[in-house]
Amino acid sequence: MSTDRWDIVIRGARIFEGTGAPPFHGSLAVCGDRIAAVGEIESAAALEIDARGLALAPGFIDVHSHDDFAVLATPAMDFKLMQGVTTEVVGNCGMGAAPYPAVREHFGIFFGAATISGWEGYRGYLKMVEDAPPSLNVAVLVGHNTIRAAAMGMARRAPTRDERRAMREMVREGLEAGAVGFSTGLIYEPGRHSATEEVIELAREVAAAGGVYATHMRNEASGLPDAVREAIRIGRESGARVQISHHKAAGKRNWGRVRESIELIEHARAEGLDVTADQYPYTSGSTLLAAVLHNNVFSAQGDGGGIPRIEPECVLIASAPLHPEYEGRTIAEIAAQLGLAPEDAARKVDTDERHNAIAILDMMDEGDVRTVMRHPTTMIGSDGIPLGGKPHPRLYGTFARVLGRYARELGLLTVEDAVYRMTGMPARKFGLAGRGVLRAGAFADLVIFDPATVIDTGSFSDPKRYPDGIAQVFVNGVAVVANGRHTGARPGRALRRS
Ligand code: ZN
Ligand code: CU
Repeated sequence: MSTDRWDIVIRGARIFEGTGAPPFHGSLAVCGDRIAAVGEIESAAALEIDARGLALAPGFIDVHSHDDFAVLATPAMDFKLMQGVTTEVVGNCGMGAAPYPAVREHFGIFFGAATISGWEGYRGYLKMVEDAPPSLNVAVLVGHNTIRAAAMGMARRAPTRDERRAMREMVREGLEAGAVGFSTGLIYEPGRHSATEEVIELAREVAAAGGVYATHMRNEASGLPDAVREAIRIGRESGARVQISHHKAAGKRNWGRVRESIELIEHARAEGLDVTADQYPYTSGSTLLAAVLHNNVFSAQGDGGGIPRIEPECVLIASAPLHPEYEGRTIAEIAAQLGLAPEDAARKVDTDERHNAIAILDMMDEGDVRTVMRHPTTMIGSDGIPLGGKPHPRLYGTFARVLGRYARELGLLTVEDAVYRMTGMPARKFGLAGRGVLRAGAFADLVIFDPATVIDTGSFSDPKRYPDGIAQVFVNGVAVVANGRHTGARPGRALRRS
């Protein structure tokens, strides 16, 4: 390669740097896996891309992913690449990839493909990712539910001194291996039986390594303010930086209460704590049907377990491996057909001992979704669950929907602001050095999209559809999406916190 030629030059684009700054017209040169220059570029390249009329941005970062196994089982990761995602943070909601035996025994659900051979700790997992490799970059969080199950099984009690030490060691192993932080899922088994002090003790290990504490809080319904206070307290007392996962107020009688959670976040930030959040752009959530049952969603006394009381017609079955005939149908319909109470109908769908049925819950207010999205502490995370059936459309559509519906159609935020919440903002929070910005020396993770047409195209009845308007995607300088199609390239890397 001669020195005056670049590998790739993208010309004439509207460049969104990923900092939130307004776009400018210009070109960008790539050399190897890095951005070589941004601005006016004279010399020619081996590959010249005409991007006139299109936007060029850093590849999107999905901060809230459950693709721990998917990146190994389906390394092309088309459902993320085709929406412009070039890096994702796996291990959310307390569901981590290690220790493998605990994952396999207790959390087979999140990790459908049980044919994958095991690994030793997070060091082993990151090595597996590196050897795969997938089409996108992967950063990892240590999951609290998984290490708790490894240390003490599914016991519904406080850990002993030895069990606490074992958990601390697992967190430390993960962070030393390069995990970017630690996550909890405090509505799930077994994490929901942990006291705040248990989490603080583990989060101290995270703080010492400079990582993030990401939390699916204990309550996103009537107990939302207390749950936010708990997350902030964990940050304050441990010193770890806090990320509130999928920020929302769930359940009709709690609608509007995101104002309270936002106020608490603002107070904590004024106190000097680093507290931010992420969000998927939909009024429906999605989770394990088993968790729906554990949290008494169908009982009149619902709202006590972190998920609100929800009408059976608002609970849709996304995935039920043993009962695919129920996929795409509501609990109300299934209950009527079987002549059962909603709760018993749900148990019928979730008969597999691995409890691997997934539900979609219509439980949020569109006004709240917009309030959270407008707020400057919110970044974007899909929370997609990569399983069969009819997954929540967020798995395929999140990033295009924020750009197309919320930025372009509704004008809720500028394109540069939307891009920032998908790139520079998460890169800084999660310590992803050299990612999330377009500047010389940064990694060439890039997306070229059409701001005039970009939009999600999936629906709840037909969710597995790629968005429109994503033209080209590069990961570490290699084209993974070209002319709207996946090239099959797999240039992703395991990203380790440095
Ligand atoms: Zn969650
Ligand atoms: Cu999640």
